[in-house]
Amino acid sequence: MKKIIITGGAGFIGSHVVRRFVNRYPQYLIINVDALTYAGNLENLVDIEDKPNYVFEKADIKDKTTISAIFDKYGVTDIVHLAAESHVDRSILSPMDFVYTNVIGTVNLLEVAKEKWKADYTGHLFYHISTDEVYGALGDEGLFTEETRYDPHSPYSASKAASDHFVRAYYDTYGIKTIISNCSNNYGPNHFPEKLIPLSINNIINNKPLPVYGDGKYTRDWLYVKDHAIAIDLLFHEGKIGDTYNIGGFNEWKNIDLVMLLCKQMDEKLGREPGTSQQLITYVKDRPGHDRRYAIDAGKINKELGWKPSVTFEEGLSATIDWFLNNKTWLNNVTSGAYASYYDHQYENR
Ligand code: NAD
Ligand code: DAU
Repeated sequence: MKKIIITGGAGFIGSHVVRRFVNRYPQYLIINVDALTYAGNLENLVDIEDKPNYVFEKADIKDKTTISAIFDKYGVTDIVHLAAESHVDRSILSPMDFVYTNVIGTVNLLEVAKEKWKADYTGHLFYHISTDEVYGALGDEGLFTEETRYDPHSPYSASKAASDHFVRAYYDTYGIKTIISNCSNNYGPNHFPEKLIPLSINNIINNKPLPVYGDGKYTRDWLYVKDHAIAIDLLFHEGKIGDTYNIGGFNEWKNIDLVMLLCKQMDEKLGREPGTSQQLITYVKDRPGHDRRYAIDAGKINKELGWKPSVTFEEGLSATIDWFLNNKTWLNNVTSGAYASYYDHQYENR
């Protein structure tokens, strides 16, 4: 029986991965290991928290002793590693947090896996979730492929690049069976409202300014989070050991065009006059070291495993807005900070 640690399972993408694995694979035990930083929210998982094949362990990946104890307690067979500090703006303000969690935390997990799985790594997988930001910035043309040279610019992307290198080093040096995937920008339900799309949705709801960095012509390739979870499921089960896979939406948007589309859809859904929300757009000082354009060539995972995004951007964005409008309590709890006590109520005081 597989006993799989999913790190960062209380976060945005991690919660979708946990839900998918818990619901699709009742024969597996899913162990959600999360430190519940500001980005971790167990309210993301209320619908599955009582399932018999799911457990939550509040633990920090920087703490090797605790991670070792979790391995022993459950006899962990595999790791799907998503826990990270994930916000570029925070990495500019506080780079060491990114080094500690993203680099040292990842190496801690690799070390524990190496010790616990000993020399026989057969049947064990260390699957590391990474980002397209490790490849740096594109000009107007071209796409990131799995062969693109690493060229990270922000402390966040540098820390993710370092963690990717460590994962490859443990494959090359010790033979631990690894897979890495590098994904483009995700969006969807449960997205923390510090990132562009949920921040803009929240601010439109509350008639607050929509900050657009620099000239607004920075370009990102957006993927619906549930399609990322499908890709992770596929790679966990069918990916080639030692390989890297790029995952993306084939869906490039300049930030300003994206914010304008959001304003249009939100005006319709909120019954506001067309053009109302776009008046909230405010150009602000640029992000230092801001990468101009990201765009993923997801041809490898498409050709080898048949994966492609299942929803169009218009469908995904509409579903995302609907989710935020229908989950005001979630949004209020996150913006007020109330979500932080969910663990105490549900777990500590049980
Ligand atoms: P998130 O910030 O929403 O969630 C991160 C989770 O990790 C949170 O639950 C947090 O509590 C947990 N965590 C943080 N530090 C921890 C620690 N030291 N120990 C244990 N848990 C800790 O992040 P996300 O957007 O869901 O991203 C998940 C992963 O996917 C990250 O590795 C990120 O680099 C990668 N990624 C994200 C995107 C994106 O668009 N969001 C795209 C590509 C790759
Ligand atoms: O590309 C994958 C990456 O996407 C992930 O690895 C990161 O974890 C994830 O946070 C995301 O990084 P970005 O920096 O691209 O996401 P963010 O939502 O912060 O910004 C998207 C774009 O919008 C970027 O060009 C900066 C801009 N922006 C962002 C915010 C928060 C604004 O113009 N205004 C804003 O208020």
